[in-house]
Amino acid sequence: MAKVTKVGAREILDSRGNPTVETTVLLSDGSWGVSSVPSGISVGKYEAVELRDRDPNRFGGLGVLKAVGNVNMVIAPKLLGFDPIKQKEIDMVMMGLDGTENKGKLGANAILSVSQAVCKAASMSLRTGLFQYIGKLAGEYGLTNTASRIPTPMLNIVNGGKHGAGNLDFQEFMVIPSSNKKFSDALHMGVVIYNALRDVLIFRNAIHSIGDEGGFAPNLFTNSEAFEVIVEAAKASGARLGYDVFFGLDAAASYFKKMGGYQLKDRPQLFSTDQLVDYYKTLVSTYQILVLEDAFEEDDWEGWVKLTRELSDKLLIVGDDLLATNKSRLTRAISEKAANAILVKPNQIGTVSETLALIKQARQANFRIIVSHRSGETNDSFIADFAVGVSADYIKFGAPARGERVAKYNRLLEIEQSFV
Ligand code: PGA
Ligand code: ZN
Repeated sequence: MAKVTKVGAREILDSRGNPTVETTVLLSDGSWGVSSVPSGISVGKYEAVELRDRDPNRFGGLGVLKAVGNVNMVIAPKLLGFDPIKQKEIDMVMMGLDGTENKGKLGANAILSVSQAVCKAASMSLRTGLFQYIGKLAGEYGLTNTASRIPTPMLNIVNGGKHGAGNLDFQEFMVIPSSNKKFSDALHMGVVIYNALRDVLIFRNAIHSIGDEGGFAPNLFTNSEAFEVIVEAAKASGARLGYDVFFGLDAAASYFKKMGGYQLKDRPQLFSTDQLVDYYKTLVSTYQILVLEDAFEEDDWEGWVKLTRELSDKLLIVGDDLLATNKSRLTRAISEKAANAILVKPNQIGTVSETLALIKQARQANFRIIVSHRSGETNDSFIADFAVGVSADYIKFGAPARGERVAKYNRLLEIEQSFV
């Protein structure tokens, strides 16, 4: 039985050039795991704490040397000698050392990097694929241990809100190939539409740049115009709307909520919660929208409940900022029927085992599971294996562009090949 012999962290950079934490875990049998954590920019109020140094002389205060120090000085000594397959016990030791509800003392970034690195090291020691090992852990949490299907990708091809050029209020416009496609075919379709969209934007003189998640961040005037160009691109690529391909929207509404209502470019007056429900209904019926994430800000329970009551038979109503991968938020959403799907981001909670427990809770309530990246990512593809291991329904890994996004898609291609 292998034992943990060394745990060491360092500061590395994420895809925005901001510091983040990477940890290596070494085992007595020569196995190891290296894992790093991502970082969001449209961060929900109820997420676990990402510990930053706040030293204005380094990286504008975003350094993570304190979190790195917490791994090396506080966590590492307590984990030496542990059997790495004891994922839950190891996570609980770290939670105990932290002692807060939101991991505010040691930092969820510090804790998660260790939790994921332990998981990788254990799978290497057992000589199983990481996704298979995570499938086994998921089984221990009462989830079906199948790990035999690649989740359907939701590809974010237009970046607005905080990820884009500042002229679109909605944050993510996604294309979702039909779930009955093989993953590699679905990904191929996403790439074809992405490339067709580039041509449409060039033709309209709206090409600008790509955003944080690899989608285009075009010069467009309204949010509905973004749907128009995506529809045009999908049609140009030969995909049949509502059959081969569907659309998704992450509104990230907390970022356009103003005093007295929601502010969208599409009309001069603010939208009340009820008006916004009606506006979404129009968008859903005009375009083939299958997924609607963060349609309201995280404390607008009334809007969430109303939308779920009216549209849950047609639509995945996904809580990201609303649920923040957080147990008590999920419990409330289940009892109030405020969503029917959860976006799972391990760094919103901070350990592998708590993420598994949360997925179990969501599954029991019949929620759909979407495993998601963050807008600031590294090349670590842990979440690709994680998504397969927990048999997620969907994955959200951004556009099929930028190395840190493609790393996850490529890992899924590798896993798919191992199935045959
Ligand atoms: P974030 O955005 O990583 O910047 O929070 C992703 C999302 O809102 O889904
Ligand atoms: Zn989101």
